Amino acid sequence: MTLRKIARRFGLLFLILACASVFIQARFRQPNADYQERRAKLRSMINGPVVIFGYTSRQDTGEVAVFFQEENFYYLTGHSEPDAALLLIPDSPDAKSSTAPHEILYLPPRNPNDEKWGGPRMGPDDPDAAAKTGFQAVEPFASLHDDLVNLAKTYSTFYTELPAKEENGYPHLTIWSAWVRSTLPQSTIDDIAPAMAGLRQIKSPGEIALIQKAVDASVDAQLAAMRMMRPGLYEYQIAARMKEVHEMEGCSREAYAPIVGAGLYSTVLHYDDLKNEIKDGDLVVIDVGGEYGGYAADITRTIPANGKFTARQREIYEIVLGAQNAALAAIKPGAMLYGGPKSVQQAAYDYINTHGHDLHGNTLGRYFFHGVGHHLGLNVHDANDRTSPLQPNMVITDEPGIYIPEEKIGVRIEDDVLVTAGSNQLLTAKLPRNPDEIEKIMAEARANPQPQQ
Ligand code: GLY
Ligand code: MN
Ligand code: MN
Repeated sequence: MTLRKIARRFGLLFLILACASVFIQARFRQPNADYQERRAKLRSMINGPVVIFGYTSRQDTGEVAVFFQEENFYYLTGHSEPDAALLLIPDSPDAKSSTAPHEILYLPPRNPNDEKWGGPRMGPDDPDAAAKTGFQAVEPFASLHDDLVNLAKTYSTFYTELPAKEENGYPHLTIWSAWVRSTLPQSTIDDIAPAMAGLRQIKSPGEIALIQKAVDASVDAQLAAMRMMRPGLYEYQIAARMKEVHEMEGCSREAYAPIVGAGLYSTVLHYDDLKNEIKDGDLVVIDVGGEYGGYAADITRTIPANGKFTARQREIYEIVLGAQNAALAAIKPGAMLYGGPKSVQQAAYDYINTHGHDLHGNTLGRYFFHGVGHHLGLNVHDANDRTSPLQPNMVITDEPGIYIPEEKIGVRIEDDVLVTAGSNQLLTAKLPRNPDEIEKIMAEARANPQPQQ
C-alpha cells in the first residue's frame, strides 16, 4: 500500500506508522558527545547487545537520489555514509569483557573507484576513525558476523530493528533482521524500536535548536507564500517558492511532500498533486515544512486566495483557531495527547463540536477527523511511546482542522510546540495565526509588489 493510500485510509495522524522508515541526511551534525550520551542511555536500558544497520544506498537508486541515513542509526551515530552498522554491548556482568569496547562502529572498506564519483569516505583503517566518530572502536563491517557469534556465548538476547508486518519500500529491516537471526540461530532477537522511541521522544537542546532552524526557515517560507498569493497562480508555484526559501536557509530537503490545496482541494488532507489554478474566492491550505540538519518542521496556514476571508470562511477559520488555542492550553507535562477527557485531542474536538454548524444544522465535530498532533523530530511523524504522557522537551504539533467538501472549505492551522516544565512554548510564534494579521500581510504585499512576485 502506498503512503498516500495509507493516509487516505487511516487519516493524517496514522501516517506516523507508515513513515517509520523515512530516512535522513545530516548537513549539520551534532558534537560527538551528544551521540555518545544517547548510546550510553540506550546501553543502560537493555540486557543484551544491540545491532543497528545504516542504509546501504540501495533504498533509493533513482538518478535523483541523494543518500539519507536511517533514522535510528543516525540518532545514535551521526554517521551519514552508507553500508555501516553499530554494535552496543551492555555494561557486562562478566568482568573479563569489561575492558573490551562497548560501542563499535562497523564500516565497509573504502573503494577508490566509487570515491572518484562520490568523494572521500571514512574507512575502518582510517587511523583517526575512532576520534572522528567518537566511537571506542571502528572495525571492518566484515568482522560483525564473528563478533556477534562470540557475544552469543555471553548473551542470550540480542536487539535489532524488526520490520513492521508490511515494510514499505526497500526491505531494509526485513533483510538485516533475517541476517541477524541466521547469524544467531540460538538467540532471542527482540525489537529495539520501543526503547529508541522512548529516547527519541525527549529532545536534547541540540535537537531543539535544529528543529527551531527548520521552523524558522519554514516560517519564512509561509510568509513568502502569503505575500505572493494571488488568484491565477498554480498550487505548484506556491510550493516552488517555499522550497526555494527552505533551501536558501539551509534545509537539505522538504520534511514531507508539500501540500498546497485550493478550493475543494483544501479539504483533501494530504493532497500533493498541486496541479490546480488557484481561483478568486478559494481558501488555500498550505502545509509545507523544511528539514534542517535532519530535523523536520511541520507548519500549516490556511489563507484566502484573494487576500480577504469571506464571512463563512472566517467563521470556520476562527473555530479552528479556537480549537488550536484550546489544545495549546491543554499541552503541558502530564497531559495525554490522545485518550481520556483531558487529552489534547479532546480539548480540540470539544471546541469544534460546540461551535458553529454545517449547512444542515449539524455540529462540526464530524469534520475534524484526524489526530490533533504528533511528535516532531528526525521524522515529521516522529518516534514516540504513545502510552506516555507529555513531558518537558517533547516537541509536538498542534493541528486541528475542519474540512467541509460541500462548501469547498478546508481549514487547518498547524504549529510546532515545545513542552516545557511549566506548560509549552510555540516554536512557530513568529508566524501569525490571527486572520486579521494574515489579511494585513497579504494587503501590504499587494500594495508593495516585489519584482520576483
Ligand atoms: N504535514 C503532515 C502532517 O501535518 O501531519
Ligand atoms: Mn503534522
Ligand atoms: Mn503538516
